[in-house]
Amino acid sequence: MEKFELIAHPLPYTMGNGGDLIKHGLLAEFTDWHCREIPHSLTYYDPFGGRPWQEPVHDAVSKRIKTLEACPLKEVQSIHSEKYLGSGHIVSQISKQYENKITVFSSDSDSAARQDLEASGLNLIRLRGFNLEDGLSILQGSIDRSKHALILIDPFYDLENINKKILDKIIRKVKEDNTSIALFVLYYNAEINLWSQFKKINENLTGDSFNYISLQCDAIENSTIEGESKFHSSIILYTHNNYPNDKLNILSENVSKFSRNLTKAVGCPIGFDSQIIS
Ligand SMILES: C[S@@+](CC[C@H](N)C(=O)[O-])C[C@H]1O[C@@H](n2cnc3c(N)ncnc32)[C@H](O)[C@@H]1O
Repeated sequence: MEKFELIAHPLPYTMGNGGDLIKHGLLAEFTDWHCREIPHSLTYYDPFGGRPWQEPVHDAVSKRIKTLEACPLKEVQSIHSEKYLGSGHIVSQISKQYENKITVFSSDSDSAARQDLEASGLNLIRLRGFNLEDGLSILQGSIDRSKHALILIDPFYDLENINKKILDKIIRKVKEDNTSIALFVLYYNAEINLWSQFKKINENLTGDSFNYISLQCDAIENSTIEGESKFHSSIILYTHNNYPNDKLNILSENVSKFSRNLTKAVGCPIGFDSQIIS
């Protein structure tokens, strides 16, 4: 499965920045929880897959990972401590600990990134209705509705295009299928109005009828880690309607604990919010 001989390509940001840590931490908590608590297998899709990993790991990122108390993200990132893994490998490493209960699919609009994702051992997404140039088209892709799935929507820096239409589609899919969706967004100070609009639409859509768990990391001023001093980041995981509440409460507690763990490791507050409808 893993072919770690691939040479990492330079990225315009440091993998393992604050945004990555909330995104990958929540993904690691969710997939570890699913493997432990839910008897069904899971299919994971990242249509905005990016590069599989970055090496060497930035010193400040390594220090944060070492400082974390035991948690699924720390366990996975410590397996290959010289590489910071992207989402597909984080999920596949967790899956390995549970007899490969999760199948991982990835894609990217950039053909070179797609080649790297495939060469590193990940499956490429091939679904009817999915256009690899447009990661959001996964929401219309022919995912088997009867099987448990998780989609990561991670369009990098694109908050202005995450409008009501997209959020509507996300909420509808989570409501109707066995698919959960994690939406990662980045925004900077000048976009605070855009963020407020997004939050309002999100609140109106989720109301008191949808379960979600979210983490938030505000910009970290004067950081030497590329990509976290300007951007605020947020990840919202909308879980589908077919998980039992007692299990969702365990997940919510795990993520809340992770937010406190990460707050200590990063040295600035990591926000946590959750709604589990009883
Ligand atoms: C931040 S990286 C993804 C990181 C990855 N999801 C992870 O967590 O490890 C964002 C990627 O999205 C890709 N991308 C940007 N716009 C896209 C689009 N419309 N459809 C598919 N991929 C896109 C970029 O090429 C880039 O590699």
